[in-house]
Amino acid sequence: MAPAQWPCLILALLSCLAASGFPRSPSRPLGVVDGIEVYSTKISCKVTSRFAHNVVTTRAVNRADTAKEVSFDVELPKTAFITNFTLTIDGVTYPGNVKEKEVAKKQYEKAVSQGKTAGLVKASGRKLEKFTVSVNVAAGSKVSFELTYEELLKRHKGKYEMYLKVQPKQLIKHFEIEADIFEPQGISMLDAEASFITNDLLGSALTKSFSRKKGHVSFKPSLDQQRSCPTCTDSLLKGDFTITYDVNRESPANVQIVNGYFVHFFAPQGLPVVSKNVVFVIDVSGSMHGRKIKQTKDALLKILEDMKEDDYLNFILFSGDVTTWKGNLVQATPESIQQAREFVMNMNAGGMTNINDGLLRGISMLNTAREVKAVPERSTSIVIMLTDGDANAGESRPKKIQENVRNAIRGKFPLYNLGFGNNLNYNFLESMALENHGLARRIYEDSDANLQLQGFYEEVANPLLTGVEVEYPENTILDLTQNTYQHFYDGSEIVVAGRLVDKDLNSFKADVKGHGAVNDLTFTEEVDMKEMEKALREREYIFGNYIERLWAYLTIEQLLEKRKNAHGEEKKNLTAQALDLSLKYHFVTPLTSMVVTKPEDSEEQTAIADKPGEGPTDAEVIPSMAYLTGYQPQPPQTPCHHVDGDPHFLIQIPEKGDAICFNIDGDPGTVLRLIQDPVTGLTVNGQVIGDKSPDSKTRKTYFGKLGIANAQMDFRIEVRPDKITLWNGAAQSTFSWLDTVTVAQDGLSVRINRKKNMVVSFGDGVTFVVVLHQVWKKHPVHQDFLGFYVVDSHRMSAQTHGLLGQFFHPFEFKVSDVHPGSDPTKPDATMVVKNHRLTVTRGSQKDYRKDVSSGTKVACWFVHNNGQGLIDGVPSDYIVPDLF
Ligand SMILES: *[C@@H]1O[C@H](CO)[C@@H](O)[C@H](O)[C@H]1NC(C)=O
Ligand SMILES: *[C@@H]1O[C@H](CO)[C@@H](O)[C@H](O)[C@H]1NC(C)=O
Repeated sequence: MAPAQWPCLILALLSCLAASGFPRSPSRPLGVVDGIEVYSTKISCKVTSRFAHNVVTTRAVNRADTAKEVSFDVELPKTAFITNFTLTIDGVTYPGNVKEKEVAKKQYEKAVSQGKTAGLVKASGRKLEKFTVSVNVAAGSKVSFELTYEELLKRHKGKYEMYLKVQPKQLIKHFEIEADIFEPQGISMLDAEASFITNDLLGSALTKSFSRKKGHVSFKPSLDQQRSCPTCTDSLLKGDFTITYDVNRESPANVQIVNGYFVHFFAPQGLPVVSKNVVFVIDVSGSMHGRKIKQTKDALLKILEDMKEDDYLNFILFSGDVTTWKGNLVQATPESIQQAREFVMNMNAGGMTNINDGLLRGISMLNTAREVKAVPERSTSIVIMLTDGDANAGESRPKKIQENVRNAIRGKFPLYNLGFGNNLNYNFLESMALENHGLARRIYEDSDANLQLQGFYEEVANPLLTGVEVEYPENTILDLTQNTYQHFYDGSEIVVAGRLVDKDLNSFKADVKGHGAVNDLTFTEEVDMKEMEKALREREYIFGNYIERLWAYLTIEQLLEKRKNAHGEEKKNLTAQALDLSLKYHFVTPLTSMVVTKPEDSEEQTAIADKPGEGPTDAEVIPSMAYLTGYQPQPPQTPCHHVDGDPHFLIQIPEKGDAICFNIDGDPGTVLRLIQDPVTGLTVNGQVIGDKSPDSKTRKTYFGKLGIANAQMDFRIEVRPDKITLWNGAAQSTFSWLDTVTVAQDGLSVRINRKKNMVVSFGDGVTFVVVLHQVWKKHPVHQDFLGFYVVDSHRMSAQTHGLLGQFFHPFEFKVSDVHPGSDPTKPDATMVVKNHRLTVTRGSQKDYRKDVSSGTKVACWFVHNNGQGLIDGVPSDYIVPDLF
């Protein structure tokens, strides 16, 4: 039988989040509603490295004895792009093709003029847009719909979230949601929740699990589990199904390269928060009166509670004119927070809307605070503006306001625009925010508006880096996506993608530079292609060219965003580029449409899916991006004093071309003073740990913790085999040995070379290297430990002491009477040093700076008995109570 009156399709697309598809229609007999039985719905999600590929398939049969219309609705994220749609009627497949919108529109209009139903687009809720298609199905015929969409999941507040909207209008025999997640960094948490379901049902219908790189979620309610009550025939599946996860963050970055395309994810952890100067520019015009001003107050009061004492703030209120809380920015001390609370509680709404003067006042306050140094030098500034309507007082022409604001901010800090409700020109707010490196967010007029406001503030409350730049070696990269960001916020992620000039590269390097709360940081990422390929090897079960598609997705998204503020030739060019890519990669974007074609008759094209174009969109793009690591050359191999292994001390005497060595036996837990200089304020202490052997006589000991402190700079570093912590006064930064990062500030530089060593320099003239010794994790006896090397000490004073420090100043020793010892390969000799006459033995110690696995042998005279006679005093004189 021919597919009944085939050309009858409706397609609708709304804004953007996850989805699922279900025929709709009122219902009665079990599983059959108005003659149509939907017998299967499957949502299959495959996520590889944040890039989600979702397929929604629904199958139905017309059980009635006349032709019926069957509809298929899917709500998908506004940030997703549809990439495919096919319709199959009685075994005949009508594939979808992506066409330029103008071309598709003609076909659409023709279809409509012939009385065929066609494209329909509407927004649906806050994060979703809706795709709808209807088709007429002959009696007894079967139909199946398959929709595919893709999106890059963005990290917000520490996790990736995927929403699937679930709302079948009837009970479905086979209903299934299945998600497979593959993340090369390893999955650290995974959860799945359904807003509509009881725990009882969750137990048996929902399974979720993850292990290393793979995660899996499955939701398969039986017919009985779908019933809203034991005897009901309507479905309780109605609401959001949400999958959330995050990946391991031991390494600040991750780079993946496949077929010449790369993606670089960057989200360092453990950095102190940069203090903020925040100006809230709040609309108190008449339309805010009532619930809106009440909710705004609630949100601001909550935000004040979360304000950090290092932050500075002010409130600018605008209606027809502008009033301010304080004349200047004030520090968020407990007293000023209390005053701010009173001010907020007394806010009243009334009058006109003068956005221009409100914003300009706030911006000029931030500029002045910076000029007169009223705010900390390393702080960062942001303006958060909230309005619920269009400007109608003062300068009210949007173009002119944008120009004024742009000229006042001059790219120095971001502007975030919050649009409260629907009664406003959101495009204007968005365009203004985007051209000032910020973003716009819509606050929906609802009972949770205060939570939406707070939620937005939380996302920008913790900047960890400012002025972030991601750099790749010159001439190695093409078609790079955005690589500079004003802020990296805690809980977000920076993602950069691009193409390699040379597909067969052996290694790949990138630097991410940024200003932290107390110092400048450079994270370097160097990728070994072999290692990376190994890490990606388990991914075959997921689609192959995901990095190329991820790159295309990100590029199109950024081109479309730029296009919003472009004019003339530039806009044409951006449009042309975005269109080319949309067609090439089969993405339904605001520039393209999906056309479903009847195979045997290419003239007859009927269904159109397109993406809402210029309407309000809610770009929820907290600057995100990505990654890094790298390796800098080792310090020159100059003579140096060091302690490594079972604490073996080696003192090199370059003048004599010789070296002395000794051991110090200490009980695990003991802290030994290695260096103390009262003049420069530098100290270095080391804590001894033992191996895992139960016998204390044969147990080896090592340094398991080192404390390096500079009292004058109020700076400390604690180095352990599992992490490195820096304190600048009270500000704390934590790094792992998987970082390659350079921390720079006046008179100090710390460089961590991934899994190898750490180089600490205090100005010019003091440099230490800490070497990481890693053993096999399950080694029965040994543990990870540290070696400590002094490669430059010439700026330390003559008063320096400690087990190593006492040898920084020249000292005399003489070796004579070399004779065979008890071990024929190791002669003994007599050493005269510090007025002692000692018997010493020729031996060697290893220097592990260059090669941590085998080391380089250095010959030395070994002083027995814990360096007795060589070191001043006895070993117990060097024991200190703690690391700092
Ligand atoms: C669209 O989906 C159909 C059915 O699964 C498939 O045969 C076709 O290759 C897909 N088209 C594209 C461009 O992926
Ligand atoms: C856009 O402009 C750039 C240079 O400004 C040019 O190389 C490119 O070909 C243009 N793209 C299109 C699609 O016109």
